[in-house]
Amino acid sequence: MKNILIGVCGGIAAYKSANIVSKLKKKGYNVKVIMTKNATEIIAPLTLETLSRNKVFVDMWDKNRGYEVEHISLGEWADLCLIAPATYNIVGKIANGIADDMLSTVISACTCDKFIALAMNVNMYNNPILKDNIEKLKKYNYHFIDSDEGFLACNTNAKGRLKNEDDIVNIIDNYFLSKKRKKLLTGKKLLLTAGRTEEPLDPVRYFSNNSSGKMGYSIAEQAVKLGAKVTLISGPTDLDVPKGLSEFVQVKTAKEMYEAVLKRFDDTDIGIACAAVADYKPKVCSDQKIKKNTDELVIVLDKNPDILYNMGLRKDKQILVGFAAETENIIENATKKLKKKNLDMIVANNAHNMKSSNNAATFIKKDGSMKEYEQKPKIDLAFDILTEVSNIITK
Ligand code: C5P
Repeated sequence: MKNILIGVCGGIAAYKSANIVSKLKKKGYNVKVIMTKNATEIIAPLTLETLSRNKVFVDMWDKNRGYEVEHISLGEWADLCLIAPATYNIVGKIANGIADDMLSTVISACTCDKFIALAMNVNMYNNPILKDNIEKLKKYNYHFIDSDEGFLACNTNAKGRLKNEDDIVNIIDNYFLSKKRKKLLTGKKLLLTAGRTEEPLDPVRYFSNNSSGKMGYSIAEQAVKLGAKVTLISGPTDLDVPKGLSEFVQVKTAKEMYEAVLKRFDDTDIGIACAAVADYKPKVCSDQKIKKNTDELVIVLDKNPDILYNMGLRKDKQILVGFAAETENIIENATKKLKKKNLDMIVANNAHNMKSSNNAATFIKKDGSMKEYEQKPKIDLAFDILTEVSNIITK
């Protein structure tokens, strides 16, 4: 389990550090605590010693210290450093390179990620010197856990209150979780299609469908977080382009998407076809807007290329995942597509969820195994899909 070094400063919120230490211990983290001398006036070291099950460090010149150079060894021991509560003073000291007690010295010598949970009087909080110091430290990758608004020890309702202990513990948990996740697809190249396609009939009309692109964009977002190099080939959507992509290619029609995909497919490790591609397009796209001169209008449609089917034909080392948005016989239809398109996995879902932010799905793998996922936000389902992909890769 991970090692967390907690720095406790002499703000009145120091008493809350007991709760933080206790909650982190309950979650299984190893915890060591350094207190400033001022903090020991507010909460006894014995409390934190008992809760952390470790000696609490305060004084650089402790006569009972061991042979180790503690301000170095504590920094080396820590996987993460959390200062909670962090006062105006400690932020100022760190930002200006001052190391004049145990906590500031250890922080200056430790290389792990550091989280600073602010707690102080509102006027101190609003002091521009603090803001400058925070900006400076952010440049050096210090993470700040901002104060909440609430009732302060100085008898006012204002900003400056230490963030709720549960929230602080969650932030630490999520940090370790995202570090673990990061490794799942590190360095893997992902080619992803998303969104709908639009097949023009004339300069102002087109054939399309209900797809919002949310599922595909969620996969892109999660894949970036998991360390993949993501190329997103997207039809029209109303969504913002996800951050951190290696390449974003905007297309409109199925033909454009097909060409963009096949150009890049050989050089990819994973292909995920999430786009709702129009199966047919008008045979002729009129140069001018079609007039309503007749009671009946017959439009002849031509079949579009099946992009995923062609990826399946060219598949060599790639892991290939498709979607089956069905309105009936979901599993049966999806299984047929899995085989026909030479996929490693298909995500079978109900076509009615196309526009929604949530989705439920059944993952069907090439070996016939199936896993059901209940209704959840698409961003979470995206994580499940990519976890399965990484399982297939490491198998
Ligand atoms: O055959 P069907 O269109 O239902 O298959 C759906 C899957 O195939 C989806 O993954 C979709 O992105 C992909 N597809 C495609 N090109 C098409 C039609 C579908 O890549 N022309």
